[in-house]
Amino acid sequence: MNLFDVYPLFDITPVKALGSTLWDENGTEYLDLYGGHAVISIGHSHPHYVQRLTDQLNNIGFYSNSVKIPQQQELAEKLGKLSGYEDYQLFLINSGAEANENALKLASFHTGRKKVISFSKSFHGRTSAVVAATDDRSLVAPVNETENIIFLPFNDSAAVEEALATNEVAAIIVEGIQGVGGVNIPAVKFLQNLEKLAKKHGALLILDEIQSGYGRSGKFFAHQHAGIRPDLITIAKGMGNGFPVAGVLISPEIPARHGMLGTTFGGNYLACAAALAVLEVMEQENLVENASNMGAYLMEKAKALPGVREVRGQGLMVGIEMETPCAPLRKALLDEYRIFTGSASNKNTIRVLPALNVTKAEIDRFLEAFAALVSQSA
Ligand SMILES: Cc1ncc(COP(=O)(O)O)c(C=O)c1O
Repeated sequence: MNLFDVYPLFDITPVKALGSTLWDENGTEYLDLYGGHAVISIGHSHPHYVQRLTDQLNNIGFYSNSVKIPQQQELAEKLGKLSGYEDYQLFLINSGAEANENALKLASFHTGRKKVISFSKSFHGRTSAVVAATDDRSLVAPVNETENIIFLPFNDSAAVEEALATNEVAAIIVEGIQGVGGVNIPAVKFLQNLEKLAKKHGALLILDEIQSGYGRSGKFFAHQHAGIRPDLITIAKGMGNGFPVAGVLISPEIPARHGMLGTTFGGNYLACAAALAVLEVMEQENLVENASNMGAYLMEKAKALPGVREVRGQGLMVGIEMETPCAPLRKALLDEYRIFTGSASNKNTIRVLPALNVTKAEIDRFLEAFAALVSQSA
């Protein structure tokens, strides 16, 4: 059997990793400033993470959600404490798309409505309702097409107010920082308006923090820079440092009922152990603060690099927009300097999404390689 060929691949086979370093099968070393697409939060193969998962596997790896799994409650408590959402409820699943599907479903159950407001350049996943709410028609199969999604311009509060006036909207879904769209930060006032308008019109506000959450923005959640409290918050990527685990944080005003949501694998022992290990390391090593400091350093230095038009970001979610398409530069960074970076739907934007414990020396290595390559090609 062959693999279904949906990914263009780099000709690289990583076999070992530690912190922000990867090694391929020939022992060649790479610097990972992409974090496997913002997934690696506490660094590859962190010893505490390896130990906690190993210990858990030696006890019990899986049973279904029909029994008590105390690690789920432990995770909910730790996550509530570190994120500032102690009064919220947690539903555990396995991936970002699933988190958003469940958030939309909850909003629809709770309000009895069908319509969802989403924004230009958004990305919310590749399944059913969330791919329909993703602003990329090439990803939407006929079976996913629906009239329930209303796309509005990003940062346009007046358009949102107008759409909400029909009183048919169940939810507004917005990323804490748009990732795939090219690192676009919602205006503080826009997020505050969304919170206010959703309340006024009986809709729920869903913050998709799948990429921007878990400390990456220099606060636990990116929307906390705007001081708002959404009804639903979705999390995935950095939550498990590579173990598939995701969640929906649910306002105390949304009551649960048995059978409302469900999952086979969500919240299993190993997923909880991975997620707990991540939070423990984040707390012990002050990684949210490191993300804020290293991100500020990276952005300040990146603004002065040759060929750079604009630098957007918060913490370690950084988009460097070039004057020209960035694909040749990303390729040269990888081929000549062994540095992984990310792309975006905006072809001129390089995304830098390193582990939250990336060091200044690692950032300097990137900045020097970048400057050398751009000067060389000028
Ligand atoms: C903001 C955002 N939402 C949702 C998703 C989908 O997550 P997953 O690939 O785990 O389904 C992604 C993935 O890139 C994302 O960046």
